Amino acid sequence: MAQPNLLRLGVNIDHVATVRNARGGAVPDPVRAAKLAEDAGADGITAHLREDRRHIGDEDIERLMDALSVPLNFEMAATPEMQEIALRHKPHAVCIVPEKREERTTEGGLEVAREENHLAHYIAPLRDAGCRVSIFIAADQKQIEAAARIGAQVIELHTGAYCDAHAEGDFDARDRELDRLREMSTFAHGLGLEVHAGHGLTYDTVQPVAAFPEVMELNIGHFLIGEAIFLGLTPAIAEMRRLMDEARG
Ligand code: PXP
Repeated sequence: MAQPNLLRLGVNIDHVATVRNARGGAVPDPVRAAKLAEDAGADGITAHLREDRRHIGDEDIERLMDALSVPLNFEMAATPEMQEIALRHKPHAVCIVPEKREERTTEGGLEVAREENHLAHYIAPLRDAGCRVSIFIAADQKQIEAAARIGAQVIELHTGAYCDAHAEGDFDARDRELDRLREMSTFAHGLGLEVHAGHGLTYDTVQPVAAFPEVMELNIGHFLIGEAIFLGLTPAIAEMRRLMDEARG
């Protein structure tokens, strides 16, 4: 487990389940991957139970709750079904994300400002049950203020636009996105929110975000599971951990 002042790494194991589901059997097992990730230095495991169950399934969540020694960050859309599941399992953290059936991945942040009343009522029982409530949002002051007003303890800043700009070689846009992420991390921290970040991070993009002193946790999945094909999961995670520590140090 990480020291309190260290940046935590949450490993998202959704895409182990994506590969398993391509054949419909039991392997590769995302719970086995989660246990390996723990041993490799993950401080938490993240899993997104989507409405269409395209990767993680209900049974995976049950097995993760039983098997994990590190906290589970349960990603979910703000639906009655997901609230009921979260209240049944009471994971350490729930991260509320926007979800569209037709998207390949979580494309943007949650629209909190327009849904403030609904979301405040939605997250209250989750908080009362002892879950830390995190809201996945764009680096946008209006959304951050709304997240604080509804009573979220944590925000996770969407790093997708920054990572996409890097991948496309548009370094001006990448640097603008990075500046915005930096500024909004400071802003959110000033409101008393714990700041996390994630989406699309790779070995090439992780360090500038890891260097923000206000960021306490990064959640990283797709790249690590892809890299595990070449390196194995343990070295893939160890290298991410090393880069994060180097950037922080
Ligand atoms: N954080 C959140 C809230 C996410 O929805 C996702 C993707 O499921 C991630 C982090 C991880 O993104 P990636 O798989 O691109 O590393």
